Amino acid sequence: MPQVWIDTDMGFDDLAAILTVAAASDWPIAGLSLVAGNAPLDIVEGNAARSAALFAWTMPIHRGAAQPLVAELVTAQNILGANAMNSLARELPADGIALSQVSAFDALTRYLDQSPEPATILALGPLTNIAAVLQSRPGLAKKIGRLVWMGGSAVGGNHTAAAEFNAAVDPEAVQVVLDAGVALQMVGLDTCRQVRVFSSDVDALRAIGTERGDVLADLLGGYVAIGSAGVGAMYLYDPVAAAAMVLPACATFKPAYVVTELTGQHTRGMTVVEWRVPRRATANAEVATTVDEAAVRKVVLDALTQAAGTRAGLGDKQ
Ligand code: RIB
Ligand code: CA
Repeated sequence: MPQVWIDTDMGFDDLAAILTVAAASDWPIAGLSLVAGNAPLDIVEGNAARSAALFAWTMPIHRGAAQPLVAELVTAQNILGANAMNSLARELPADGIALSQVSAFDALTRYLDQSPEPATILALGPLTNIAAVLQSRPGLAKKIGRLVWMGGSAVGGNHTAAAEFNAAVDPEAVQVVLDAGVALQMVGLDTCRQVRVFSSDVDALRAIGTERGDVLADLLGGYVAIGSAGVGAMYLYDPVAAAAMVLPACATFKPAYVVTELTGQHTRGMTVVEWRVPRRATANAEVATTVDEAAVRKVVLDALTQAAGTRAGLGDKQ
């Protein structure tokens, strides 16, 4: 059975994405590697350790990069809150599990080295950890069978007008991954914005009546309150990439040539997508173009319901 390695900067949407994978019985999680992004690494570590305690995760969790390859760290705490997990009330439990003593760099290097077949990686934050491994061991690129990444954008940005956050935090890492010839499946901001969560989804989680359900409801409520999709509505990001992996039929990808802007005063971190392949350029990635909102909502919300401790499905409620 294939496994998946997840690299994450552990905001709420990262948690929802990991729970989506955890609910998919045919995708065991080999390990988590943590990267600074949504918040500084120590907060990311705390979110991961406390999530693992609440949801009884058993996969090893490894500390990764505290800084981008060359840039100074910028975070999303101004949007997501100081702990990158705004909440209406309840928080993750105070005590988390013990993280592995093995660094993300060593753990991911060993995992790729020893993987009997090309590995699947789901990346939910800046690509710093993965780029560092590839810079050290370029030959490991061929041991990555598929890198599904929530990041970049074919049209527009969120961190800036031009750049999506995960790409903007570490543009050099994105270009290292592109140059390494990794089989990248980019699930960009523009495509993720085809999927929304609503206040009604918060109510449905709360109606379950379990402690985990109440925590998830308050965290989802804090996320929906960001309101980028309108009052009582928010776009889903990382869970869309997770859904594209566990439910391939929910997403459509097209080949493209992607390059990262590294020097533009106003455009640094922009992922420039050239669709005219092979006429104008040779494809170096598959870029998601459409996703089925209803299908993604169902697989994600059913996973949150399962994590909350009940089996009733939520995904069909709009
Ligand atoms: O732009 C959205 C991405 O930035 C998501 O991965 C979210 O968790 C933040 O890291
Ligand atoms: Ca993330």
